[in-house]
Amino acid sequence: MSTPGSYSNDRAAWLKGPGHRCSEAPARGKRVWRLVLLGPPGVGKGTQAQLLCDELGSCHLSTGDVFRAARSMEMDKASPAMVTAIECMVGGKLVPDLTVVNLVKERAKCLRCVGGFLLDGFPRTAAQAGSLEEILQSQGVTLNAALYFELPLEQLRTRLSGRRTCGRCKAVYHVANRASAVAGVCDTCGGDLVQREDDREEAIEKRMVAYNLTMEPLLTFYAERKLLMRISAAGSPDQVFTRVKVALGLPIHE
Ligand code: AP5
Repeated sequence: MSTPGSYSNDRAAWLKGPGHRCSEAPARGKRVWRLVLLGPPGVGKGTQAQLLCDELGSCHLSTGDVFRAARSMEMDKASPAMVTAIECMVGGKLVPDLTVVNLVKERAKCLRCVGGFLLDGFPRTAAQAGSLEEILQSQGVTLNAALYFELPLEQLRTRLSGRRTCGRCKAVYHVANRASAVAGVCDTCGGDLVQREDDREEAIEKRMVAYNLTMEPLLTFYAERKLLMRISAAGSPDQVFTRVKVALGLPIHE
């Protein structure tokens, strides 16, 4: 199994804004994958994105990561829209559609990258899905699939409460299921592992409510376009990843 964070895409342009460039050019010539990862908080979208990055070379683009990166900058340097977005995120509420869509539009060059992309956390509403469709059309590219990960609520809570994330490279761990070799230290870059603010119990409840209100229309959107693939997120990350590879028709390595 690959280790968390071992993929080489640094996502610099995506996380730091439209003016930034990635330090490594993506490889050309391979099949280009453009995927959307859907599912409730804590189901393992980020974890599967890391594994898919290793396999496909596509870049992992997370709107949640952008808001968390913005949170770590000084608030007086953030735009009013970003200040609102950060407040929503910390409280477990969804960021307004317009703010998220504008953020993705600003970074449209990441979506037409020859390396492809794995969109994690966007779209989250049918309105965002419609906007993404328009952005992709304007960039002359199309989605290959929308992967929807499913898991019972109790298991989601366990995954969220034990999650730890590297503050530097954003690799995702779990204190019991996917522990780092040295407690609190990232295996890949040596950064500190931290607990996310929105993994507090009150915020988790609000995130689940927001998810339940928006997910059905989103699933209908992708089902109507014959892009939706439902995947059970039960079992270990590797077991889930094998299901993903089967769904996408990728080779299974023993
Ligand atoms: P975001 O960062 O997108 O969070 P989320 O969707 O709530 O998803 P998570 O990152 O919590 O979970 P995940 O599915 O990636 O799980 P992970 O792989 O980490 O968004 C955060 C906030 O930003 C939102 O609440 C909102 O405010 C705002 N926002 C972002 N995008 C937005 C948008 N488009 N519109 C509006 N607002 C937006 O796994 C979880 C844990 O489980 C880890 O510890 C992992 O190690 C472990 N784990 C994973 N897989 C397994 C497995 N198979 N078995 C056991 N453990 C596992």
